[in-house]
Amino acid sequence: MKSPATLDRPLSRLKRTGNARFSRQLREMIRYARESPVIGAGPVGLFQSNYHTSPPWFRRFAVFSATNYLEGKNTNDLLPDSVHRFPMEVPVPDDPFAELKAVQREAWALFAPLEAISTMPAAELIRHALVRPQQSVLDVGCGTGVIALTAARLGARACGLDLARALIERAKKNAALADVEIDFREGDVEAMPYDNASFDVVLSQFGHMFAPRPEVAIAEMLRVLKPGGTIAFSTWPPEHFVGQMAALVGKYQPPPPGVASPLQWGEPSIVRQRLGETVADIVFDRGVLCFPALSPQHYRSGAEETFVPMVKLVQTLQDDATRLAAFRAELDGCIASHLEDNMVRQHYLMTRAIKR
Ligand SMILES: C[S@@+](CC[C@H](N)C(=O)[O-])C[C@H]1O[C@@H](n2cnc3c(N)ncnc32)[C@H](O)[C@@H]1O
Repeated sequence: MKSPATLDRPLSRLKRTGNARFSRQLREMIRYARESPVIGAGPVGLFQSNYHTSPPWFRRFAVFSATNYLEGKNTNDLLPDSVHRFPMEVPVPDDPFAELKAVQREAWALFAPLEAISTMPAAELIRHALVRPQQSVLDVGCGTGVIALTAARLGARACGLDLARALIERAKKNAALADVEIDFREGDVEAMPYDNASFDVVLSQFGHMFAPRPEVAIAEMLRVLKPGGTIAFSTWPPEHFVGQMAALVGKYQPPPPGVASPLQWGEPSIVRQRLGETVADIVFDRGVLCFPALSPQHYRSGAEETFVPMVKLVQTLQDDATRLAAFRAELDGCIASHLEDNMVRQHYLMTRAIKR
């Protein structure tokens, strides 16, 4: 990707061009930084540093500062004087889960074939969220775009954001096939590239629940939502099939320390507490996704290729045949107890609330 011309301009000149333009330029640089093979290269231009030789922590700090600026936080950190006051040895504020997310970014690409399955509950979530034509709708953790596409086909102005570049590319193809305009972007729900109060509706189908820091993810989703706007999401409860399957995976491969269980998002009491006082009128509903399967083993072998936590577990257990066999036997038993009429019934929770 070609570096934007703004990259090498001094900060003082950028600031003179006015706030709105400065923000636009910053956003352009952040996108460049995220998409560039040289991670964080873009915003380093702000500090008149040679970004090709600057250390990685400095590039990360540049992205962090620029993101803060766009979010209206710590704006002063971007002024040249403040920047120069930072001694080189100061620890860099950083995302503690950056490495985990880098792994997930690649791994989630495997999810693409499951769009055939997640297409069905997408219509349910759009209905539950009461999406109307002309509304601006964000699909968080959009994968191949099933929610954004369903909203766009209803006449909404849709955007989609996902960690996995491969899924975003597929989402763009899906939008082109359907002949709808959707702004799909690669990004992290914990640091979204949108202004405050940008959307009428913020949705997530089995997406934001996988962010390692639920409190950061929900704060971001509510930040980009307009007051009076609707937040709605579908999540897997711990007591049903997907929850049991995920718990089994966790038994054989516990999540990294500090990562919240995605299944907490399936507990109405936790959802209420996380949404907190920022929202009103919380409404829950339930749905069932019927997943076709010819046998427990048929379901399992598909999950081992597409359900990221399980893909990783099977990779980890490759050299431990006994544990791998034990896991598979337990999982087959769990699947068998939910398999009826060639369908595994996957119950999920839907939440809707209005931002005050
Ligand atoms: C189970 S898939 C659901 C995809 C899509 N919503 C659907 O229903 O088909 C979970 C999605 O969340 C995305 N995801 C996971 N962590 C994320 C994060 N921190 N920020 C943005 N997306 C994330 C994954 O890349 C993946 O596409």
